[in-house]
Amino acid sequence: MPLVTTTEMFKKAYNGGYAVGAFNVNNMEIVQGITEAAHELHSPVILQASAGARKYAKPAYLKHLVEAAIEVTNDEIPIALHLDHGADFEVCKSCVDGGFTSVMIDGSSKPFDENIELSKRVVEYAHEHGVVVEGELGTLSGVEDDVNVAAENAQYTDPDQVVEFVERTGVDSLAIAIGTSHGAYKFKPGTNPHIRLDILDEIVRRLPGFPIVLHGSSSVPQKYVKIINENGGALQDAIGIPEDQLREAAKRAVCKINIDSDLRLGMTAGIREHLVAHPEHFDPRQYIADGRLYVKEIVHDKIINVLGSENKA
Ligand code: G3H
Ligand code: 13P
Ligand code: ZN
Repeated sequence: MPLVTTTEMFKKAYNGGYAVGAFNVNNMEIVQGITEAAHELHSPVILQASAGARKYAKPAYLKHLVEAAIEVTNDEIPIALHLDHGADFEVCKSCVDGGFTSVMIDGSSKPFDENIELSKRVVEYAHEHGVVVEGELGTLSGVEDDVNVAAENAQYTDPDQVVEFVERTGVDSLAIAIGTSHGAYKFKPGTNPHIRLDILDEIVRRLPGFPIVLHGSSSVPQKYVKIINENGGALQDAIGIPEDQLREAAKRAVCKINIDSDLRLGMTAGIREHLVAHPEHFDPRQYIADGRLYVKEIVHDKIINVLGSENKA
């Protein structure tokens, strides 16, 4: 199976009451950790690259790493390559031209009509080339690339706008803001971490059968935060989205759940733990391999406990 688009994945996920994990990739070991777990569990998977990832690794490396993963997994699981948070038409076009099978145009910080115009232009180009498009309505708080949206400036998606947005743009899936946020500090300590499943339900009522995407969906597993802090790290009050709430969302219309921060925590935990236990080591293969193991463990856990996508390949 070559790289696939998300069309078939989302159809099956919607009807099957599960979601496909969209994991951010930045280097070889992250690609390996994610795809080894997905392969072992026979799960479809979306590998996504942000602008930051493209700057760090270069698009050609990312593309070829993903192609290597397809080869190593013997074409046995569907894998999509997705542009995460495309900021403008040009970056989306360059990914379409470069072999991505899915792109996100993130016009969520723009006024409604501008977001529509931009998203529509990307859809026209992408669809001509057999590539699918994710749009976004509503603003998440948190950090993505160089943009930092303060919680007070974040806005939930307005259900009254979703039908018009989807009809006028032609997007294939829609990212919504219902209380998730980017990064490892999603809620203040002492508050009740929750997402607005009621807004999701209202959006689904307006857009029956349409695939919904959740960004900012790391759960910040405390196991890895503890390992980091016990091995010289300093992560205070890192809190994520409760896994049971994401599972609920996946049972409804959420077909794609974005996870990056948890993989960063896993990689950092493995490397810190290794270097503290073996101060005499200086071969990167030794300590990065331990980071890769935790990335794999996390993706394994997500597929079973959050996404429900095992044996859906
Ligand atoms: O949406 C944000 C993702 O975690 C990507 O992060 O832009 O630092 O690569 P990045
Ligand atoms: P997290 O920071 O919660 O992992 O979100 C990642 C994301 O939304 C990538 O687009
Ligand atoms: Zn995101």
